[in-house]
Amino acid sequence: MDQQKNDIAVIGMAVMGQNLALNMGSKGLKVSVYNRTSEKTKRFVEERAKNKNIQGTYSLEELVNSLKTPRKIILMVKAGKPVDDVIEELLPYLNKEDIIIDGGNSYYKDTDRRYEELHKKGIRFLGTGISGGEYGALHGPSIMPGGDESAYEEVKNILEATAAQTEDGPCVTYLGPKSSGHYVKMVHNGIEYAIMELIAETYDIMRKVLKMTPQDMSKVFKEWNEDHKSYLMEITYKILEWKDEETGQPIVDVILDSAKQKGTGKWSVQDALDLNISIPTINAAVNARTLSSIKDERIRIGEIYETPTEMNLDESFINSLRDALYISTIIAYAEGMKLLQVASKEYGYNLDLSEVARIWEDGCIIRSTFLKPIQRAFKKDPNLVNLIISDEFKSDFKKKIPNLREVVSQIKKAGIPIPSLSSALDYFDGLSSKELPANLIQAQRDYFGAHTYERRDKEGIFHTEWQDIHNI
Ligand code: ATR
Repeated sequence: MDQQKNDIAVIGMAVMGQNLALNMGSKGLKVSVYNRTSEKTKRFVEERAKNKNIQGTYSLEELVNSLKTPRKIILMVKAGKPVDDVIEELLPYLNKEDIIIDGGNSYYKDTDRRYEELHKKGIRFLGTGISGGEYGALHGPSIMPGGDESAYEEVKNILEATAAQTEDGPCVTYLGPKSSGHYVKMVHNGIEYAIMELIAETYDIMRKVLKMTPQDMSKVFKEWNEDHKSYLMEITYKILEWKDEETGQPIVDVILDSAKQKGTGKWSVQDALDLNISIPTINAAVNARTLSSIKDERIRIGEIYETPTEMNLDESFINSLRDALYISTIIAYAEGMKLLQVASKEYGYNLDLSEVARIWEDGCIIRSTFLKPIQRAFKKDPNLVNLIISDEFKSDFKKKIPNLREVVSQIKKAGIPIPSLSSALDYFDGLSSKELPANLIQAQRDYFGAHTYERRDKEGIFHTEWQDIHNI
């Protein structure tokens, strides 16, 4: 009887849920689907999912009863309260050992809470990041599961068949306990914010200083992508050559310069601050989006202060820009991997960072040629201090940092904001500075708050009675 039942269910028939269901169906899996608004389910099974191994269900009870045991149910609903609501509604129909997989962009602390609550009820939970956008969901995403390991073993074959495939294996692995999957997805998105911003700043330099047309820029990014083999750069050169149907203009020129965000970038930055980790390139990218969104204020202020965008740069500048983008992109990955390394220890995730890089090799939004050397670097040394000093990237840094420096220093004179490019350089310069001015900060803290300081010449904690000097 159970044999006739379906292998897995997807709840939430927005485009990601639909595409994931279609992907699974195309792998020979029998899939049940459900959506709160039932017309969506009906339309989906009658149109896109027709003859594709997919069964529409119209109540959660019907959905649960359509599945083999232990039931395997993937939630692809809006992150936040909807996830709790759906779990709550599902629970009366589930048995012990059944498996819930949350495939949305849930905040990792919510995932920890849900894991604990469900664990007490005997339900197995996998907080699972899924990256790849609509296309990835349909043709093979990168899947980042964490939580109940025995549940992973039950769904391993399904997830492996669904994920993007590379010569190093399918882009999925069991990452670790609790919220490790959603944490890794959060940091993936933080890196994504940074790479998008770095490309956008490079585009801004090309249009405002080098006066290039979108068509010219598209050609340049296409050529540079031979080095990056990056999905984000690939979509950039495709966007830049795209014409708006209505006006015939390059579409990028008719799109408003004001970007939104859903939270994963911000969460990465917030958590990095809590863990005392510096991720300035990612941080700058999050801030850049925030600043972009206050368009009215920017217009008012921009009317008062004009910026000097005219510059004379020689031909070689475009090559410096190429190197600047290349090396700052590696810095974005370096910051993200560092955050994962520290979070893994702090939260007990026990992440294998080379495996994280491996499952990002394809399917996900930050896939690029850099993931293979990152994978190698962490395989050789899981405790690598920073990717910047890995054998894989050391010579790139020696060669290309001077060009990042050249770009940042020239472009600052043009008054063009390049927060992520300059933060990437500051990160590198900060990390490679044997001497920083924090001696003075220590003294200031001790002066106004008696916070004490350490000395270079002997061990211990010291305090100076500064106020006496002050009063003289
Ligand atoms: P979109 O991606 O289309 O903008 P969304 O609002 O993010 O949609 O919601 C994604 C999915 O979560 C949808 O399937 C939505 O169901 P509806 O089609 O009925 O809106 C589902 N969803 C959102 N809130 C939900 C809730 N409280 N309970 C159940 N499903 C919910």
